Amino acid sequence: MKIRIIVLSVLISSILPAYAQIDVEKKIDELLSKMTLEEKVGQMNQLNFDALTDDLVGNLKVGNVGSLLNVTDPEMVNQVQRIVMNESRVPIPLIIGRDVIHGFKTIFPIPLGQAASFSPEVVEEGARVAAAEARSTGVTWTFAPMLDISRDARWGRIAESLGEDPYLTGKLGAAMVRGFQGSGDLASRDAIAACVKHFVGYGASEGGRDYNSTNIPPLLMRNVYLPPFHETIKAGAATLMTSFNDNDEIPASGNGYILKNILRDEWDFDGFVVSDWASMGEMIAHGFAKDARQVAEISANAGLDMEMVSGAYIVHLAELVCSGKVPEEAVDTAVRNILRIKFRLGLFENPYVDTSKGSVLYADEHLKSARQAAVESAILLKNENILPLSEKTKIAVIGPMADAAHDQLGTWIFDGDKNYTVTPVGALKDEYKHINYVYEPALGYSRDKNKANFEKAKNAAQSADVAVVFLGEESILSGEAHSLSNINLIGVQSELLQAVKSAGKPVVLVIMAGRPLTIERDLPYADAVLYNFHPGTMGGPAIWDLLFGKANPSGKLPVTFVREVGQIPMYYNHNNTGRPAPDQVSMLDDIEQEAGQTSLGNTSFYLDSGRDPLFPFGYGLSYTQFDYSDLVLSSKTIPVNGSLKVKATVKNTGKTEGTEVVQLYIQDVVGSIVRPVRELKGFQRVTLKAGESKTVEFTLTPDELGFYGRDLIKRVEPGDFNVWIGGDSKASLKGSFVVE
Ligand code: BGC
Repeated sequence: MKIRIIVLSVLISSILPAYAQIDVEKKIDELLSKMTLEEKVGQMNQLNFDALTDDLVGNLKVGNVGSLLNVTDPEMVNQVQRIVMNESRVPIPLIIGRDVIHGFKTIFPIPLGQAASFSPEVVEEGARVAAAEARSTGVTWTFAPMLDISRDARWGRIAESLGEDPYLTGKLGAAMVRGFQGSGDLASRDAIAACVKHFVGYGASEGGRDYNSTNIPPLLMRNVYLPPFHETIKAGAATLMTSFNDNDEIPASGNGYILKNILRDEWDFDGFVVSDWASMGEMIAHGFAKDARQVAEISANAGLDMEMVSGAYIVHLAELVCSGKVPEEAVDTAVRNILRIKFRLGLFENPYVDTSKGSVLYADEHLKSARQAAVESAILLKNENILPLSEKTKIAVIGPMADAAHDQLGTWIFDGDKNYTVTPVGALKDEYKHINYVYEPALGYSRDKNKANFEKAKNAAQSADVAVVFLGEESILSGEAHSLSNINLIGVQSELLQAVKSAGKPVVLVIMAGRPLTIERDLPYADAVLYNFHPGTMGGPAIWDLLFGKANPSGKLPVTFVREVGQIPMYYNHNNTGRPAPDQVSMLDDIEQEAGQTSLGNTSFYLDSGRDPLFPFGYGLSYTQFDYSDLVLSSKTIPVNGSLKVKATVKNTGKTEGTEVVQLYIQDVVGSIVRPVRELKGFQRVTLKAGESKTVEFTLTPDELGFYGRDLIKRVEPGDFNVWIGGDSKASLKGSFVVE
């Protein structure tokens, strides 16, 4: 009986969504049958909200607007919704968009920082909190997560990315989508629609210069840049945003192959696609369209559903349909996609915000989650027997990032309020009150070049047991249109560190930045380095939790840290050259000048910075140590459609409890196309007490083992595979198996 009831309820729950879906499609049919062509085009138009002008009211009334972005006052949201619901001919609620990127009010670490946690739970929780806060004010749609694979730290938007790896980006991106959208019911009052962006390839902007062209050939596109998008669409992402770049000479907002063939036909995406800000109109500057009319024609025929702000659709699309340049079905399909998401969000049932409800903004549990996220996102890069500090240590707190309430929040924080930020200095005042410290900022902000207070900083260090120096980047140095060609610590910060070190006391360097900086020259002046990508509202207490050992660092690098900017692009999952460099290469500095010497070895490396990065992908230390052993495979051979279990034992060999991110990498040794030297295909966070060990198990399926070959079909190829398990991308515990 019990079993029957369970079977019945499983059946009902699987049929119900399908029914609901049919119901929605019927409702959309009804609406479409009532709408004029102009009203349909209106749904495809998104405007930026500045003020409720007569012009805007007029456009809302005649059905010229499907979405507004940047309305953040709940009363105003209700007012604009009332206009479209009560005063327009066919009432259709607006979808209200906002960039809620790493928090709405409560700011979490920047996405690159969250990626360092290698924790889907942390990322999902961050998005859940952001969604609850945003929806409480009437925002129903965020423009996140950003899934652009970023292999270039000069690019300012690396801050918004989940790093350089497609597998990690896909898994964490899917977690972010789940966090924003809730457990399946977009209509729930704490869910918002996610928007995966930027489709596609934007992170490969040449030279790391924002908005630049990209050159991603089809197989690289299939195997590296597209997979995170596919993963998040499988996780139910409601919407998708095109990108600014042209790839293979086609601007993304006019690329029907990616928007239709891949996204709709291959992936079955049923949400809607929005352009990036004016990216449709910018096809004129790209030299891809001669005027706004042609812009509208290209994008509508390419399958772009909604235009963000450049206004080509609203002016030209109806006429283009009438003159036969765009089929009316293209417009109907776009509007259907948009309405489907509006229905799923429950906007037709209730487009309004309940302003009588108590505020959830900056709720205690949100701040707690943000603190935990900041703890799990910090990466310990170096520690020469100095950390954790005893709470009895007298500390000299130095540097421009020690009390930078705005800057520690990072980029894209439209709604975050710096008055809620707890900086490291703030945390010493509020919570870590018993700590004996002196504070000397020495510089006003990261770019400040005035060295007048360096002597004071040195004296402060002399008067203390340890100097903790907070350096990094102001938030304005990363993010959109904030690329850099030099990524050393900016200004005179390296000199400040040296001045402090000259006091002769141990130095702990804490960095807060929007990107991986080139810090090789700074390492000798620090006994320990804790790297934080801008850590958000609760960064201050989280950092002290780590420095005092209340929490143990567990973050791992989601991007390769290069020695010199000239090594870029350098990423762990590169292809092999025909002449890979050996472990030891002689560099210019290593050898005496010899008359007539013409070569230092004909392999692939830089004469001045060698073969290797400063820190590899996946790297990060703990206050304890982990040992890896006993790699066991469930089989030595598997069929092409088979799966394989890979196990290894991880032991905490140190004296304190700690959490390790156990990583699994594979290599397909010989392929029909060249395969990367290693690829991440699994990761798990494992917490172990001192002395404790655990067996960690991963399953490799055709999904992990396969790749897109020359026919653009994904399959597993027979042959030899290597597999490694360890604590970073240089892991040495190795096994091998054969796919038959
Ligand atoms: C950015 C997008 C963002 C949009 C809306 C654009 O400039 O590229 O990522 O979502 O603006 O603010």
